[in-house]
Amino acid sequence: MTTTLIDGIGLLYTGDPEREEIPDAALVLADGLVTWVGPAARAPDADERVDVRGRAVIPGFVDSHAHLIFAGDRTAEFRARMSGEPYTGGGIRTTVAATRQAGDAALAARARALVTEMRAQGTTTVEIKSGYGLTVEDERRSLEIATGLTGETTFLGAHVVPADMDADSYVRLVAGEMLEACAPYAKWVDVFCERGAFDGDQTREILSAGMKAGLGVRVHANQLGEGPGVRIACELGAASADHCTHLTPADVDALASSETVATLLPGAEFSTRSPYPDARRLIDAGVTVALATDCNPGSSYTSSMAFCVALAVREMRMTPLEAIRAATYGGARALRRTDVGWLRPGARADLVVLDAPSYVHLAYRPGVPLVHQVLQGGLLLEEDIQNPPSDVVL
Ligand code: NIG
Ligand code: FE
Repeated sequence: MTTTLIDGIGLLYTGDPEREEIPDAALVLADGLVTWVGPAARAPDADERVDVRGRAVIPGFVDSHAHLIFAGDRTAEFRARMSGEPYTGGGIRTTVAATRQAGDAALAARARALVTEMRAQGTTTVEIKSGYGLTVEDERRSLEIATGLTGETTFLGAHVVPADMDADSYVRLVAGEMLEACAPYAKWVDVFCERGAFDGDQTREILSAGMKAGLGVRVHANQLGEGPGVRIACELGAASADHCTHLTPADVDALASSETVATLLPGAEFSTRSPYPDARRLIDAGVTVALATDCNPGSSYTSSMAFCVALAVREMRMTPLEAIRAATYGGARALRRTDVGWLRPGARADLVVLDAPSYVHLAYRPGVPLVHQVLQGGLLLEEDIQNPPSDVVL
């Protein structure tokens, strides 16, 4: 077994709550795992040594919310929004029509290109949802494609009611035949619980059916207005309630007294010109917060976790430390993972070397490509967006 010492780390953000920041740090990796973390002056010997010359190191980003299986384009909708049109979620059906038309190879290629784009920007774990098929076969194939790209796959048949069906029959289909066809490819079940999508009773019915099929729960909750989503997520022990933009005091209390992570998606508020969630209120109440991209062609077409960190700091008044924590450790909690999101002995050697002396530069230098190198399972990844490798699995 070869051991590798990563030395000369200007500032290490570990993601480990026991000691989050270590200046002048080093790491030892072996067999794809972290085996030692600490001050460089106390580093043990290793077979190989890599000097990162004062650069900062962070855990690979954990992007716990993304919709990557889709076809088509919604530039026109974005343009209209930037001229004052509101976002209603109605454009989801445009993507559904394009996705149903697309062949498997085209859907897979698009998703793989996005995963490659994410990885080049430091994301080493990503969750991928279905939700643009909305027929048994289109949801099933969406998830089958997603399983080729990540272990974190989410069945979101309950994204919207398709145009050609009534709500009751569609809920029955999602909780019945569609779930049965999709569950073998999914780890999670998700519902868009929102006025215009699925109400509280429908959400409960679909999530409960998903739980019975062995899936973990996550919920699109309280994005466009107040509603029952967050409370249902907490009640059912969901790993995460996502968006959390419009919360009542009772919603905040429910999150604070549960294990459910609040996943904030500021790319969506940015791209829909909407008010940002109140991150301070959640953090101050003791809620675990995650940040994710929500990468999708409608409400948030960004693959950049660094951009979300910068938005969280500037627009949601999170400190740089809170934001990097939410983008790594928080994302891992939102996926109930203990092997990623932090750098400590036993964790996967998923890490990013930044062309910066500190993770704070992610917010301080917004929009600047600061990723120097990405290691996944201890292996150096080629960051070549033009020539994506065919075997990208996050
Ligand atoms: O998380 N809110 C629901 N789903 C996505 C948007 C999907 C779309 O507009 O295509 C979201 O923002
Ligand atoms: Fe989403």
